[in-house]
Amino acid sequence: MNILDIGIDIIEVERIKNALNKNNDFLKKLFTNEEIKMFEEKGKNPETIAGNFAAKEAISKSLGLGIRGYNFRDIEILRDKLGKPIVKTYNNLEKICIDYSVSEIKVSISHSENYAVANAITLVNNK
Ligand SMILES: CC(C)(COP(=O)(O)OP(=O)(O)OC[C@H]1O[C@@H](n2cnc3c(N)ncnc32)[C@H](O)[C@@H]1OP(=O)(O)O)[C@@H](O)C(=O)NCCC(=O)NCCS
Repeated sequence: MNILDIGIDIIEVERIKNALNKNNDFLKKLFTNEEIKMFEEKGKNPETIAGNFAAKEAISKSLGLGIRGYNFRDIEILRDKLGKPIVKTYNNLEKICIDYSVSEIKVSISHSENYAVANAITLVNNK
């Protein structure tokens, strides 16, 4: 197994709060139904939502693509029983991951009152 690349992102939690207040479709545009369900279970905590957003951007950098050729909803970040983020890919991003021989994408998320940060690492199978 090799590392394709790493990625990092930071976002102001305020941006997420503003988007939530302005636009009802904001969550649906960027997050999968399962992610939205998770946010609802966590009381729609803006820090958690900001963390998931940062994680998606961090993943996009760990692929070297940014958000290109796929969309935010092609990345799903849920939590395991202990709270650790788990990444799944869908649609165009799933195809890209097959092309790149991606075996796993890992993310780590942190947040405070004002900022959420995430880093990502994309692992690929040896060719
Ligand atoms: C790459 C991207 C995720 C960066 O996120 P951002 O919130 O705008 O900016 P950030 O401050 O978090 O990150 C900027 C840094 O990301 C890094 N970066 C830029 N492109 C990158 C890429 N393809 N892969 C990895 N890292 C990248 C650079 O270091 C950049 O800093 P620099 O401009 O000083 O060199 C975002 O700009 C993106 O997805 N862009 C492509 C979206 C796009 O143009 N879509 C059009 C659809 S065709």
